[in-house]
Amino acid sequence: MNGTRTSDTATDLPALASYPDLAGKTVVITGGSRGIGARTARAFAAQGARVCIVGRDRQALDAVRAGLTAGGGQDEPRSQAISVVADVTDSAALESVRAEVAQRLGPVDVLAAFAGGQGHPTPSPQLTEERWRQILDSDLTSTFLTIQAFLPAMLERGRGTILTMASSAGREPSQANLAYATAKAGLVMLTRHLATELGPHGIRVNCLAPSAIRTEKVAQQMPAEVARQVAAAHPLGRIGSTQDVAQAALFLASDAAAWLTGLTIDVAGGRITTH
Ligand SMILES: NC(=O)c1ccc[n+]([C@@H]2O[C@H](COP(=O)([O-])OP(=O)(O)OC[C@H]3O[C@@H](n4cnc5c(N)ncnc54)[C@H](OP(=O)(O)O)[C@@H]3O)[C@@H](O)[C@H]2O)c1
Repeated sequence: MNGTRTSDTATDLPALASYPDLAGKTVVITGGSRGIGARTARAFAAQGARVCIVGRDRQALDAVRAGLTAGGGQDEPRSQAISVVADVTDSAALESVRAEVAQRLGPVDVLAAFAGGQGHPTPSPQLTEERWRQILDSDLTSTFLTIQAFLPAMLERGRGTILTMASSAGREPSQANLAYATAKAGLVMLTRHLATELGPHGIRVNCLAPSAIRTEKVAQQMPAEVARQVAAAHPLGRIGSTQDVAQAALFLASDAAAWLTGLTIDVAGGRITTH
């Protein structure tokens, strides 16, 4: 396809939108040590938000956090930022994250439960029970546990915004494995269900469902020819960037989306258009 672009660093990506109401907000992002979560953390930091990133890799978290507080660069990060090591499949670890954030950054305004990503293709007959349970734990139960940890304080304050992370694999059958697709589809309903339940308490819950996004990992692992084919499978003619997802996250978290809840936004270059 003419004009197909496959670079995350494309210079013609629109600049990050600005949402002044996000300045000073406390934002927790699981999966903030790399990929989509790290880019989203930078985007919130650029709004002047106070950011906590969560992951299992201390070194990676330190590197991202240093970028959030260093200042300069395209997004002019200027936030107060902390990082906490935790496995989001472990409710006790999440309770520690909650306590540390409360002590160091104060009440949480935005919870972005983005950790996950076990979509590697596996023929269903080869998907073992152990692997099925592990993927459901990592990509669905983890979000439930993350929300359970932070929800009581949001209910007490009568406000808050929650973002969940599905995938186009949870919207339409794809090459991703069955457990991942099922987990991600489950997150769409988790979002709708919670949005209905929590709306009267002033809490909005929305979901992002990206298609192929060029993270560091994807860039390393995807051969150039495959990248061209994946780009061509998207009507907008390129692979998504982590910034595309961050832009949608900022919008949904901001007051610009004050009357939006229960939605799943397909950050998918037009590849997913039916719900
Ligand atoms: N990239 C895509 O094309 C794409 C498309 C659709 C949906 N998504 C979704 O977007 C999210 C981020 O994906 P990504 O592509 O940015 O992946 P990535 O680069 O592999 O990053 C995954 C992030 O999740 C964290 N994580 C995973 N399991 C965790 C656990 N049990 N406890 C704590 N942290 C955990 C990782 O932390 P550590 O490495 O520090 O443990 C890392 O920060 C995932 O939910 C994925 O399913 C991605």
